Amino acid sequence: MKPTHSLDTDAVASSAPNRPPKLPYDTIIVMDFGSQYTPLIARRIRDAGVYSEIVSSEADSTVLQSLNARGIVLSGSEAGVHDTNAPELPPWVLDAGIPILGICYGMQLVTHKLGGTVGKAEHREYGPATLNLIDQTHPLFRKCELVSQAWMSHADKVLKPPPGFQRIAETEGSEWAAVSRNEITLLQFHPEVSNTKFGNIILRNFAVEICGITPNWNMTTFINDTVAEIQSLVGRKHALLGISGGVDSGVAAALVSKAIGEQLHCMFVDTGLLRAGEVQEVEQTLRNFPGLDLTTVRSKTRFLRKLRTVTDPERKRHIIGDEFFAVFIEEAKKLDDIQFFIQGTIYPDRIESGAAGLKSAKIKTHHNTRIPDTLSLDVIEPLRRLFKDEVRQVGLELGLPKSIIWRQPFPGPGLAVRIIGAITEERIATLQAADRILRQEILDAKLESEISQYFAILTGLRTVGVMGDGRTYGEVVGLRAVSSEDFMTADWYRIPDDVLARISSRIVNEVPTITRVVYDITSKPPGTIEWE
Ligand code: XMP
Repeated sequence: MKPTHSLDTDAVASSAPNRPPKLPYDTIIVMDFGSQYTPLIARRIRDAGVYSEIVSSEADSTVLQSLNARGIVLSGSEAGVHDTNAPELPPWVLDAGIPILGICYGMQLVTHKLGGTVGKAEHREYGPATLNLIDQTHPLFRKCELVSQAWMSHADKVLKPPPGFQRIAETEGSEWAAVSRNEITLLQFHPEVSNTKFGNIILRNFAVEICGITPNWNMTTFINDTVAEIQSLVGRKHALLGISGGVDSGVAAALVSKAIGEQLHCMFVDTGLLRAGEVQEVEQTLRNFPGLDLTTVRSKTRFLRKLRTVTDPERKRHIIGDEFFAVFIEEAKKLDDIQFFIQGTIYPDRIESGAAGLKSAKIKTHHNTRIPDTLSLDVIEPLRRLFKDEVRQVGLELGLPKSIIWRQPFPGPGLAVRIIGAITEERIATLQAADRILRQEILDAKLESEISQYFAILTGLRTVGVMGDGRTYGEVVGLRAVSSEDFMTADWYRIPDDVLARISSRIVNEVPTITRVVYDITSKPPGTIEWE
């Protein structure tokens, strides 16, 4: 494993000689018991200006100190407290001496532990419920109305709270919708879900009113703190960063450049598998960024040579990944004094790849967490604490142009996974031409902010066409456009007929090797967004 000077808890807790300063924020830790809503809890608390991190329910009590924890939220779960293998409450949590907010399963777990009764509800309660506050003066309910809507999603419920707990809110289906005793507050409903009208206020009240945190988490303080941390870590050494043209690596470059200026070297590997005009666009944008040292390594020939006879999608991915790092290592060796490798990993990457060890993680390998051991550099991940919209905000504050900040996602292996079958220079040019037309027409139709991702695919099929008086025999291009919140699921986007007609007509007229255009109307699942 590479050492990761990640500006995060592991590094903070370590005794490494160049140990970074302690986490500069007071934190609400969200203990994950496996609910799909767990990341949302942290997200909402951060929206209230308070830093929040998710920790595994197997974490030990050292997280209290390493994260400067001032309060603990216990998440919901798919499980019930009486299930065999139900996730347990770590014994240190109730002795931590800081306020606790239990949500749904979190409530039931604490109830069970402290001698109350949890049992099956008569009906699984799912959906909106009317929440009546019994104690409107409770600090959790500051600025909340007496009657409002809350979101319920539970099969078990509290039948009798533990001794000493007072009822502070109820719904028709849940007599104990909220209870409290000293520093422990337990909620049956989900404040993190937007259907709970005062949910944001409740979570803010927990962090600010009950835990006493001053809300100072914002991207300006994040930038200042991170710049200082990077400066103290890197010192006078040099660092290397791979630019992909996407938002994460662009923002990481701008941030680290602000910290260490000319000691940062950005490398943009032109694999020959990028979209039409992309290399020039990225170069132009980043060259305009003051003080950024950018080198483009033109490596198309070596990538295409390696891919010449390859048609299997997974082999394509591996070859490209390996070659990418081979180029990187070769170039890094040409530079003096490089000790650090900067990665644009963001918080959801860690959650999804399982790096954060969470039960709610959707396990998926992210290409940017695959660092070869031959790269003997220490890794810094300056964005690893941020959600995507926080990354965008940092980019905006650092002055990056909107063209980078709002770029649609593009797969690491590039057009290689959008060219079904063999990859040749001619086929890349064909796809680039068709894709450029699609992108232009979407822009002209002002649809670009509505569609999450759109691109063309060379399907590998050839069909007969007719052009003028002659018969043609060319490639079939597919069009893909999807709307998606998180790219884990997606719906195919209904591009209006007239826009589709224009795209199709332009592609077959302007790209000589294409005879036919088809539109992909598959959602994810069962389809994936990319074709390979
Ligand atoms: P799928 O095809 O899995 O894509 O539905 C989900 C999202 O991930 C992108 N994607 C990739 N990104 N390396 C990447 O960096 C890859 O190998 C890769 N494959 C898919 C895809 O564009 C979509 O946004």
